[in-house]
Amino acid sequence: MLFKSTRRIRRIIESKMKNPDSVLLGRIRDELWTSHNIPLTYSLSTMGNDRPLISSDVRMLAIKNNVRQLMQSDLSGLRCLDLGCLEGGISFEMAREGMDVIGVEGQDSNYRKCKAIEEYFGLPNLHFLHADVKELSKQSLGTFDVILCCGILYHLDNPFSFIEKLHEMCTDFGMMFLDTHFAPDRTSLKACKFRESLSDIETFEYDARVYNGRWFHEFDDKGSPEKAGIWAAVSNYRSFWPTHESLIKTLYHNGFKHILEVFGTFEIEEEYALKAEYSRSYFLVMKESQLL
Ligand SMILES: C[S@@+](CC[C@H](N)C(=O)[O-])C[C@H]1O[C@@H](n2cnc3c(N)ncnc32)[C@H](O)[C@@H]1O
Repeated sequence: MLFKSTRRIRRIIESKMKNPDSVLLGRIRDELWTSHNIPLTYSLSTMGNDRPLISSDVRMLAIKNNVRQLMQSDLSGLRCLDLGCLEGGISFEMAREGMDVIGVEGQDSNYRKCKAIEEYFGLPNLHFLHADVKELSKQSLGTFDVILCCGILYHLDNPFSFIEKLHEMCTDFGMMFLDTHFAPDRTSLKACKFRESLSDIETFEYDARVYNGRWFHEFDDKGSPEKAGIWAAVSNYRSFWPTHESLIKTLYHNGFKHILEVFGTFEIEEEYALKAEYSRSYFLVMKESQLL
């Protein structure tokens, strides 16, 4: 059963889909959409038939089902932060669940698409911010019940300080969904499709602790981020990927002591093959206070 406020949001979306603003619709359709298939009318969406609508995308379903289960409540009214939100599809979908969502995106061309979605639907609970995620703070944005850190941690040159900041920005009984690559160990490197762009295993010292990982080459240090592509880092030419162990440890050291790794999003043999090829996993993490 949907809460009254969520039903209201759904009604706004349906009415925009039935009676679209043709100018805004044209603007959206003129953009190049690369990943998030957002419904626009009952017959049009940002990516057409190229891929499932964002509402039935497997990762989106994993996010929503797991978040719902862990929050043990209807999501309406909860605050959600979507980091490196690309084309705004995940933010839109969480807003459709009634959450108050802020999506943060650093690249101009992606932000423009997010903003067009914000304007097109005019939802009171969906807003986008053009910013470098490294500059965010609890002081400026407050705290969030749900933080979505999908496809962004591995684009940062200091993932350790970023996790520390996200812990500050998470409410005591909130949670974070983390979808990230991690550095393959020596035996897994051969199977990883990113091996050519990864350094040898190196150490990274943060907060008097030593972590292991590999540097990932984003773009030449004298080049511009735009050249790296619209899914890439915006303010650092290389990113540090912690190993699986270092990732778990830094989450723990920063206070996300309740850590679950998600399995079962795909058929299990396929899931293991994907994990080996992409060296990537989904995690749900919560604060120590959840353990009391
Ligand atoms: C791989 S995409 C992931 C997009 C989306 N979160 C998803 O999982 O579908 C990475 C996104 O993060 C953005 N990004 C990378 N570094 C960023 C930074 N420092 N600040 C803000 N956005 C950033 C990129 O522009 C891109 O949209």
